[in-house]
Amino acid sequence: MSNKNTLHVGLIGTGNIGKTHLISFSSLQETGLLDIDIAAVCDTDQDSLARAADLFDIKTTYLDYNKLVENPDVDIIYVCTPTNLHSDMVKVAVKNHKAVFCEKPLARSSPQAQVMMAMTRDAGVPAGVGLVLRYDQFLLFAKRLLDEHDFGTPMLAHIRDDQRFPVDYIYYSHWRGNKTIAGGGTLIEHSIHDIDILRWFLGDIESVYARTSHFAGRDVEDHASVIMNHTSGATSTLDSVWHWVERPNERYLEFFFEKGYIGISLESDKRYLEYHLQGDAPVKVWDETANAALLDELGLESKSISPAAIEALTCVGAERYTALNYAFLKAVKEKISPRPDFGDAVAAHNIVDAAYESTDKGRCIALL
Ligand SMILES: NC(=O)c1ccc[n+]([C@@H]2O[C@H](COP(=O)([O-])OP(=O)(O)OC[C@H]3O[C@@H](n4cnc5c(N)ncnc54)[C@H](O)[C@@H]3O)[C@@H](O)[C@H]2O)c1
Repeated sequence: MSNKNTLHVGLIGTGNIGKTHLISFSSLQETGLLDIDIAAVCDTDQDSLARAADLFDIKTTYLDYNKLVENPDVDIIYVCTPTNLHSDMVKVAVKNHKAVFCEKPLARSSPQAQVMMAMTRDAGVPAGVGLVLRYDQFLLFAKRLLDEHDFGTPMLAHIRDDQRFPVDYIYYSHWRGNKTIAGGGTLIEHSIHDIDILRWFLGDIESVYARTSHFAGRDVEDHASVIMNHTSGATSTLDSVWHWVERPNERYLEFFFEKGYIGISLESDKRYLEYHLQGDAPVKVWDETANAALLDELGLESKSISPAAIEALTCVGAERYTALNYAFLKAVKEKISPRPDFGDAVAAHNIVDAAYESTDKGRCIALL
């Protein structure tokens, strides 16, 4: 039964990530964390649309996204289509004064993303983005460590991010091999998450030097190495690769400070954080400890929610998306600004664009 607290969501794009969001809406609803009505879904692929409608018991389906957005029973639009389509879909959502959540990357380049940000800000429409690592419990735990202990001056961060080339295997898709649709390869499509994290932890980036490669001979890069200088004086390095080895996606993050170290493994089957403060013994942290940081970030207390709700927000699978959607939808409901927002996405896009420019020109690109 819907009431004034019910959040009426319409989702465009019932593919990979669209289904993950639908699963997370169901978890949020079933565990009583939020009251969500999945009012309508849209996809141009009739089979995918029918499967999603059947699986999630959704009565209203559309082949044309304009009709979904115009439906008065839909208040919040999720844009989960290939990247080149995001901008037009966000535009229609804004025109209809609906809150919008758009998957990352927002667009194929920063200027397009900036137009999208300006549209949502001018219209005063809440706008969230799928930079989902902001709701990873280990990263939130690391943030909390930095607030609570004296790690000293940040010196160096490094992220190694590898994924099987997502034109098959996990995230099977044709469009990810097409630059006109995706905007680029492993850097923009996957490692925009990493760039966002590096900014989030070490602050603004003033210059970028990068090299990308196309080993597979496609028009999207399958390797990017990027060196970023932060205004704080710290340096970040990112190595991002799409390969053909059948193995889980792996992300390994390391942060070096003058008086401490934090390493985070985000492999799907081996997730942990280790930290070492000068003069202390090294500490290794597993999910059970890190989960508290996520619940705290979401304003939830483990003793006041059910074990099923904790599981939905923290266990590996749709977990980060459930946490991200909880935060976004709660912000919409409470009329506060969601984070991460389109501004966070634009900041990451600026760095991605600078990295591509650096590769083309063979020199360092200044940003500030
Ligand atoms: N936040 C994350 O971690 C994350 C993870 C995966 C994908 N993504 C992003 O989500 C977006 C979609 O990726 P995906 O893996 O779900 O792709 P996908 O190919 O699995 O799904 C895209 C869906 O959009 C549909 N579609 C295409 N054109 C459409 C149109 N005009 N109207 C309605 N539906 C249309 C397709 O039929 C397909 O079902 C991409 O921007 C991708 O970068 C984000």
